[in-house]
Parts: sequence; C-alpha cells; structure tokens
Amino acid sequence: MQNKDKHKLESINIRVERFDPSNKKFYKREYAVSADRFTSVLSALLLIKENLDPTLSLRYSCRMGICGSCAMVINGKPSLACETNLTHEFYKDKTVVVEPLRGFPLLRDLVTDFDDFFNKHKSVKPWLVASDINEQFEPKKEYPQTSYERDVFLPFSECIKCGLCVDACPVTNTNKEFIGPQALGQAYRYIKDSRDVNGKERLDIIDTLEGVWGCDFIGACSVVCPKSVDPALAIQMLKAEISKRVILGKKPVKEEIVDKPGPK
Ligand code: FES
Repeated sequence: MQNKDKHKLESINIRVERFDPSNKKFYKREYAVSADRFTSVLSALLLIKENLDPTLSLRYSCRMGICGSCAMVINGKPSLACETNLTHEFYKDKTVVVEPLRGFPLLRDLVTDFDDFFNKHKSVKPWLVASDINEQFEPKKEYPQTSYERDVFLPFSECIKCGLCVDACPVTNTNKEFIGPQALGQAYRYIKDSRDVNGKERLDIIDTLEGVWGCDFIGACSVVCPKSVDPALAIQMLKAEISKRVILGKKPVKEEIVDKPGPK
C-alpha cells in the first residue's frame, strides 16, 4: 500500500441508536464522517459530537483501552469504542451501527447506569484482606510472593471494569440477581492471591444460585473481554474450589497455592 493511501479518507456512516430520557423516546440518527484506516469508533463519535451534533451523549476517558468507560455495542458486538477501528468494522454499505450496552439500565444515548454492576463487584470484597486489621491499614512488613503465586491470579487482575462481559452474558440479561462474570472473576482473582486471608468468606458469598451456580458456562463473557481475562474459566475454577471443600472437607485456596513449588 502506498504511504499516501494509508491516510486516505473515506466517508463512513455512523448510525447511532439514541434515547431521550425526557420523553423516553428511542430514535436513530445517522451521521457521515470522514475516516482513515486508523480512526477509532470513539474518535468518530467525538467528531460527531464536536462538529455535527453536540447533543450526542457518550462516556469515555482514557481513549486507550485502560479505563473501560467507552463500552458500547458496535455492529452487534459488545466492544470498546476506543479500541475498535472504524474501517475494520464497516460493512459493504459503509455503515457502522452503534448502540448502548443492552444489559444495563439506559440513561441517555450511549450512556448506561453502572450502579448495580459496581455494587455486585463490591459484594465479593475485591480487595486484599490481611489477618490483622491494623496491619491492613498500616502495613509494617512486606508480603512477598513467588512468581508462581503471582501468576496464578495475575491474568484475572487485568479487569478494567468495562462491563462488556456482563453485557454479553445471557444469564445476567435474563436474571438480574446473578452476580455476573465480572464480579465472579474478581472473586477468583482475590481468592487466589496468597497475600489474602478472606477466601472462605468470598466462597460463602458466591456459593449460591445467584453466584457461581447461576453460570451456564456459555462463555460469551470471555469472548468479548478486551483484556483476555477469561471470567468463564474463573467461574469454573470457583465451582471446583467449592466442590472440593464440600466433598473433601478441604479448606480452600491458600494452602493449595502456597505448597506448590515455584521460583523464589
Ligand atoms: Fe478508556 Fe475506551 S476510553 S477504555
């Protein structure tokens, strides 16, 4: 490809599914934007907001796939708008359809309400708990880990709380009581951290029909995760932890990790 073609501008239609909360009306708006092959869907939406329609509402912050704010449905797939290249997404008629997340209460246009999402996240106590409460808030020593101990939970700590996994999950979309793949994935992340002592309490919280046993293992959560966190795997591992403690009467979690060999 010639260098000048790399930045060739093309006109692309963005169709936005919009919602006006003042009259509870759903409607569509279509905008034409000039984009080259590097333009993201978020950049195109901001071009629309700045130049064509300042009433368009959307949420974003970092523009680089870190904050998780720009989650929306792009051409039918839950995606991060800042990580989705516009020219990869357009169909033959050069139209990209942008909708709000469908598994969350809608506030306006592309902005959805994350209160329930963060309450469920908080319900699994997503923080390290030390055995000494004073030590927890005023640490006096280091808590070293082997690289093995770290690698057990590290892939699950990449969650940016964008909500794409929850949006893609058919269970959360039909049962609002289900804790959901994001919170369960984070429960697993902290349960498997050798510095944490709260594994038993977290397992008690999620050992319910609204917890891990609500998951049908469809796996859509892991398919859409922009950070490859694999919450579906975390949930199955949690089911195994709970089953072990029921069948074998084993204390879960920490003992199993710490005993494993690993580079010091
Ligand atoms: Fe932060 Fe897209 S704007 S992840």
